[in-house]
Amino acid sequence: MKVTVVGAGAVGASCAEYIAIKDFASEVVLLDIKEGYAEGKAMDLMQTASLNGFDTKITGTTNDYTKTANSDVVVITSGIPRKPGMTREELIGINAGIVKTVAANLIEHSPNTIMIVVSNPMDTMTYLVHKATNLPKERIIGMGGALDSARFKYRLAEALGAPISDVDGMVIGGHSDKGMVPLTRLATRNSVPVSEFISEERLDQVKEDTKVGGATLTKLLGTSAWYAPGAAVSGLVQAIACDQKKIFPCSALLEGEYGLNDISIGVPVVLGRNGIEKIVEIELNDAEKAKIQESAEGVRKTNGLLDL
Ligand SMILES: NC(=O)c1ccc[n+]([C@@H]2O[C@H](COP(=O)([O-])OP(=O)(O)OC[C@H]3O[C@@H](n4cnc5c(N)ncnc54)[C@H](O)[C@@H]3O)[C@@H](O)[C@H]2O)c1
Repeated sequence: MKVTVVGAGAVGASCAEYIAIKDFASEVVLLDIKEGYAEGKAMDLMQTASLNGFDTKITGTTNDYTKTANSDVVVITSGIPRKPGMTREELIGINAGIVKTVAANLIEHSPNTIMIVVSNPMDTMTYLVHKATNLPKERIIGMGGALDSARFKYRLAEALGAPISDVDGMVIGGHSDKGMVPLTRLATRNSVPVSEFISEERLDQVKEDTKVGGATLTKLLGTSAWYAPGAAVSGLVQAIACDQKKIFPCSALLEGEYGLNDISIGVPVVLGRNGIEKIVEIELNDAEKAKIQESAEGVRKTNGLLDL
């Protein structure tokens, strides 16, 4: 299993590190446009191999796509992150050009690959990759919901005073502060609905804290977060590499599912060796349906800024 990660910055390097630590891939190639940067990150990571006990070979390259040839999975993290006070949507001007070029270069050398898009605004970048390439829709996956759901579970566990391993929950919809739809109705503590333990008001607070999860960290760090994003991407890569058939909310191209067409947005999908093996359509109540439609309107507005 060969994995390429484009962008050896905060998220890309963290993603490579988690993939290596989980030790399921034979090779990870880090590629960056900044001279020597990916090579340096790869060497530093390789020097953790004996300490962390992995055999994954990590190499770095400055923009040489021949080194990425025949990758089974490629991850795009190249582009600028947001600064405090910025929305993800404001990154579109710079990131759209980068993502389009990077996707074309990757596909030229790995035509059978499965592509995971991370760069923001992620749902729109995923849609752009659909429009700009001829990869089948099962092989283009946007990562956002896996991270947002991890943040949701963190906030739920905090509110419940419960261990995170006892908590389950999912965030669907667009990967934006306004667009996220945390499904509190379906969240559980060891199979018991969380509403059995905490008030509606506290759950509303959990929802709000989840939606601004990224912005809260950006304010604290001065740039956007990387550990949880990197771990979330590594989870998707592992589900594909190991054919796990796990369900993650991912940005997928919809053709009628959830009443939506011609849009990439976060919905639950089954991930396996073929990429998105199934889009899971869960029964939403009227309020949740309305939230998804509203979220889709936001994503469409950002998609409208693309020069397709
Ligand atoms: N989808 C999500 O859940 C999620 C979460 C966190 C961050 N992000 C996004 O991921 C992206 C990366 O964030 P980061 O914190 O790692 O940023 P970063 O600045 O640390 O790293 C980005 C890297 O991309 C490289 N790069 C730029 N143009 C390139 C090109 N044309 N080819 C190859 N490499 C190129 C830069 O040199 C840099 O090293 C941002 O757009 C950020 O908003 C998404």
